Amino acid sequence: MKVPVLRIPFTDDDRAFMRAGIDEILNSGMLTQGKHTERFEQLFRELTGARYSIAVSNATAGLEIILRALEVEEKSVIVPTNTFMATAFAVIHSGNRVIFADSDPRTLCLDVEDVRRRIAPDTRAVILVHVGGVITPAVHDLKRLCDERGLHFIEDCAHAHGCALAGQQAGTFGVAGAFSFFPTKVLTTGEGGMITTDDEGLYRRALMIRNHGKNPACGNRMSEMGHNHRLSEFTALVGVQQLARAHTIIDERRRVARFYDKSLRGMAGARPLELPEDLQSSYYKYPVYLDETIDRSRLKRVLKEQYGVSLTGEVYADLCHTEPVWQTHTCCGRRRTNGATPCLHGSACNGTASAADFPGAEYISRHHVCLPLYPDLDEAELTHVVESLERALSESGGD
Ligand SMILES: Cc1ncc(COP(=O)(O)O)c(C=O)c1O
Repeated sequence: MKVPVLRIPFTDDDRAFMRAGIDEILNSGMLTQGKHTERFEQLFRELTGARYSIAVSNATAGLEIILRALEVEEKSVIVPTNTFMATAFAVIHSGNRVIFADSDPRTLCLDVEDVRRRIAPDTRAVILVHVGGVITPAVHDLKRLCDERGLHFIEDCAHAHGCALAGQQAGTFGVAGAFSFFPTKVLTTGEGGMITTDDEGLYRRALMIRNHGKNPACGNRMSEMGHNHRLSEFTALVGVQQLARAHTIIDERRRVARFYDKSLRGMAGARPLELPEDLQSSYYKYPVYLDETIDRSRLKRVLKEQYGVSLTGEVYADLCHTEPVWQTHTCCGRRRTNGATPCLHGSACNGTASAADFPGAEYISRHHVCLPLYPDLDEAELTHVVESLERALSESGGD
């Protein structure tokens, strides 16, 4: 049996809905920023409970727009090193400098005390990433720290559609959140993003920045430093379909997670990440910590080659501060030049971090794997994953 890394199921009804929608869009001549975009945004507000939502081209653009709308520029922004580089790139593309912080192996998310230590005189914002769908219970401490220090608290919700902590949805803790609809995500439109916020001023500025800076209040003249981060109506149509099925998709993911929870209990060599009690996760990932003696590369190879089980990518195996791009670029995105001062931030931008600076994130990056998790995995496939994992673990000890 083969268990692929991902399947994205679309039912016959989903396909019929989208075929009819495409015809309607073509007949209307309204190919972008039309009624499907509005409906997509409205359904997302209903899912998250946020007051405003803005559909954008992707989550990276969403984060960049949030920082621009907040007028954070030529400042530093703290992000976890345990994230996808897009979080850091959004900081740089909005004209700012990245400061990486450590994460807590219990939650995969930012370590609040480490954030506190790294706040610089020019720091204006912190981006919390809900890694793997985990909303850390420390979210409230982090928010309090940001409030005390006058920093904007922003959420990268790329992994967290429908996740809630004690009933509060991801995307509603900070001043704004950005979601991704990339194909691997809990809900997908192929490419796409969504900003959520309760702040009307931020909402109005984000609408303009998304659309080349056009300001409806002054005859669509450009009053913001805008960009084209719009979403086409075809993409929004897929978003409407995904949101109509969001609860089913998320319930299915929870069913798979419950199967793993039950089956992995007591398994030698593997320990599923223990989730916070109040968390309702949508399980973007199902992370499992491995014993020190397990060789992760060998485990993954054995699972794939001998048992046909493909594991998904870790969150994360490569930490952002170790990416080769920092050999040629500074933390504000300028190209390094021989001996010359690379940018206005001087030595603060040189990115000299080492593994010892991020012990929590280092632990996360070395010691976990993520099991396949998507809606239509059936009982036979799940049993095969678990049995294969047990066998592969016994074949992958250090020697
Ligand atoms: C944590 C995180 N942030 C941001 C992004 C960027 O999302 P997008 O590809 O929609 O720009 C991703 C994408 O994988 C992600 O995992």
